Amino acid sequence: MVKAVVLGAAGGIGQPLSLLLKTNLEVTELALYDIVNAPGVAVDLSHIATPAKVEGFLPPDNGLQKALAGAEVVVIPAGVPRKPGMTRDDLFKINAGIVRDLATAIATTAPKAFVLVISNPVNSTVPIVAEVFKQHKVFDPKRLFGVTTLDVVRASTFVAEVLGDRSLSPSVAVPVVGGHSGVTIVPLLSQSSHPLPSNLDTSTIDSLVNRIQFGGDEVVKAKDGAGSATLSMAYAGAEFTTKIIRALKGERGIIVPSYVNLTQEGGEALKKDLGKELDYFSAPVELGPNGVEKINGLGAIAPAERVLIDAALPELVASIEKGVSFIQTPKL
Ligand code: 2OP
Repeated sequence: MVKAVVLGAAGGIGQPLSLLLKTNLEVTELALYDIVNAPGVAVDLSHIATPAKVEGFLPPDNGLQKALAGAEVVVIPAGVPRKPGMTRDDLFKINAGIVRDLATAIATTAPKAFVLVISNPVNSTVPIVAEVFKQHKVFDPKRLFGVTTLDVVRASTFVAEVLGDRSLSPSVAVPVVGGHSGVTIVPLLSQSSHPLPSNLDTSTIDSLVNRIQFGGDEVVKAKDGAGSATLSMAYAGAEFTTKIIRALKGERGIIVPSYVNLTQEGGEALKKDLGKELDYFSAPVELGPNGVEKINGLGAIAPAERVLIDAALPELVASIEKGVSFIQTPKL
């Protein structure tokens, strides 16, 4: 029995994400919440012949609380997407408040749920959820995840393209660490399951790294004002949610990159590796039935990757601070 909830289920990411979760045979209940259209999306999905019972909720009559009651996994894609020329941080003004309000409802209704944050800017919205949970005295770092899986998915796709064989992409695994925005996205290509040829020229490697870091912009530009990645993000969100559910059900040995709070097992060692005091970072984490079992270190890093990590840290620190102070010192 697994109850999954999607907050922002009628949006561009929310709808395909809900569809993919409806096809997950482990999900027995799927609650869809949004400010509009969630009941329609729910009835539509409810005709698909898989076990999950689907229900849609709107804000009236405590819809959010009803959606969250008994939730084990809550995925949050709610918020507004980017338009051309915007960074993820430009979304902070609108999305920070949305995420804060949803986090408050989770903290009071389903404080033990695993919370998976997709809403951008993830580097700040994850700290926002944590601070809200701390205020309600229910924060458990093991259960809070920033979804960075799309960066991992993009790395697999683009590395396979550089290797000249797209059929490899499902099996290419590249750890992507740091955060989920531009230069904070750091692919560790030296640890790719499918190594790049040693004679590959630096400019090809540099453009590969750049494409992984700014893949989101490619989609924003191509959509030309109609938003950012929705379908690939939904795919990535569902992949990550599936891994969380498998771990929740007792499967061991699942290791996946995610943007997590570092005040837990493995966090101190990682900070030493990074040479920086910071509270959040995306690193490979080992999952278990209670969430994060251990944050893994970064392993052997190539010198060029160390340069990328050092370049990521100042922006990460600033984004974390922005999220934390949004809750700790709200503007009147
Ligand atoms: C992206 O990476 C939407 O943040 C998402 O495209």
